[in-house]
Amino acid sequence: MEKKILTVSIIGLGGRGGEAYGRYLITQKEKFKITHICDINHVRLHKYGETFDVAEENRFDDEDKFFEKKWSDVLFITTQDRMHVRMAKKALELGYDIVLEKPISDDVEELRELSRLAHEKQRKIMVCHVLRYTVTMRKLKEILNSGAIGKLVSIDHTENVVYWHEAHSYVRGNWRNRKFATPMIMAKCCHDLDLLQDFVGSRCKSVASMGSLAYFKPEFKPEGAADRCVNCKYIDTCTYSAKKIYVRGWYNVGKPLNIFPFNLITDAYPTTEEALTEAITTGPYGRCVFACDNDVVDNQTVIMQFENGITATLKMEAFVKNGGRDIRFFGTDGELELSEANGTITLKDYRGADTVWKITDLTDDLEGHGGGDHRMIDELYDIMTGKNPQVATSIDESIESHYMALAAEESRLAGGQLVQIEKYRG
Ligand SMILES: NC(=O)c1ccc[n+]([C@@H]2O[C@H](COP(=O)([O-])OP(=O)(O)OC[C@H]3O[C@@H](n4cnc5c(N)ncnc54)[C@H](O)[C@@H]3O)[C@@H](O)[C@H]2O)c1
Repeated sequence: MEKKILTVSIIGLGGRGGEAYGRYLITQKEKFKITHICDINHVRLHKYGETFDVAEENRFDDEDKFFEKKWSDVLFITTQDRMHVRMAKKALELGYDIVLEKPISDDVEELRELSRLAHEKQRKIMVCHVLRYTVTMRKLKEILNSGAIGKLVSIDHTENVVYWHEAHSYVRGNWRNRKFATPMIMAKCCHDLDLLQDFVGSRCKSVASMGSLAYFKPEFKPEGAADRCVNCKYIDTCTYSAKKIYVRGWYNVGKPLNIFPFNLITDAYPTTEEALTEAITTGPYGRCVFACDNDVVDNQTVIMQFENGITATLKMEAFVKNGGRDIRFFGTDGELELSEANGTITLKDYRGADTVWKITDLTDDLEGHGGGDHRMIDELYDIMTGKNPQVATSIDESIESHYMALAAEESRLAGGQLVQIEKYRG
């Protein structure tokens, strides 16, 4: 029997829609065909229109025109945070099944409304909590479910954001300010909160949280520093120098043609030194990290209690050299540990020897969130063709992690007071 080719539209052709998903979709020719795209940025619209081989008449620069009709089997909504629900509602009305970027929204009414509408229209929404789909997280779940550590009692989870990534996204970049982005514990860590509820196998009951913007503010600007790195006397010595991060950093990793974060500060393809230099000379990513309009935190800790009694802590930390998650599961018969930086999972059985798995032995595709971006799309095909009835990151499941993030932020702003999740569920 001939395989069904799913038609796909994408609105928002940035790092996610253009790079992470679009570029993978076009390698899966027997499964997907990108037919329609929309972006207000004409450079991107042209670039990805050509790359994805989308007919000129199917490229839209106007959201209203794009949403006049249903164009394809699936719609990827990969615009910025605050646009997701507005666009998802239009898409549901048209009858689309949707792949929706996280965070869904930081407005509790919008979250509830979207879930209600998805049920009413009986459409699928796959939220891009891509980490759930990685072989690493699935291996952890398999070990936990096997009973190898006995009864799970608590979890200690650290998200190592990395010093330069913090500066890139949360000081100079799109998620720097609460005026136009969700709180950092949602923007960066709704993945982690989602993983925790999945590992625990229960909804969260209550949270408390503390955190702050400790460093990236004017009082820490070195004496005589300029507002832009290219004009600054510390350009060759500052840890956060844009030249160090984007130009020397690009050289240090072998001058790649098209990878994050270099391909996000310039639309030039392939990346070149001239394009990077131009971006830091004129664009937002060349600003001094102590002279930006940022207000989101650079450190936050959340303590959680789940309905089944399991407790967990989540630490989101900017000031760290190597990225990835460190997760420790504490059980009555053993301990389980993930170190993404070391690339290992270790089972420490209290009754016997340790077992170590190397992540590279589990998969040869770790590109894009440890392979999660690609595995989610593989699973999308199975879901849309009826092979797999269950969306792991459904709207209802995903909303829970958003409630946890909202409650954590409420607690942080109230100096660490305990907040019950139930009030968000309404
Ligand atoms: N799942 C993940 O792990 C993950 C990782 C990074 C980012 N994200 C989320 O993905 C989303 C997109 O992030 P990104 O890095 O690709 O951002 P981006 O800014 O690179 O891309 C967004 C695109 O949307 C376009 N756009 C803006 N308004 C539009 C409109 N009205 N109509 C059509 N297009 C419009 C912009 O021009 C831009 O090209 C964000 O919500 C972000 O939080 C998720």
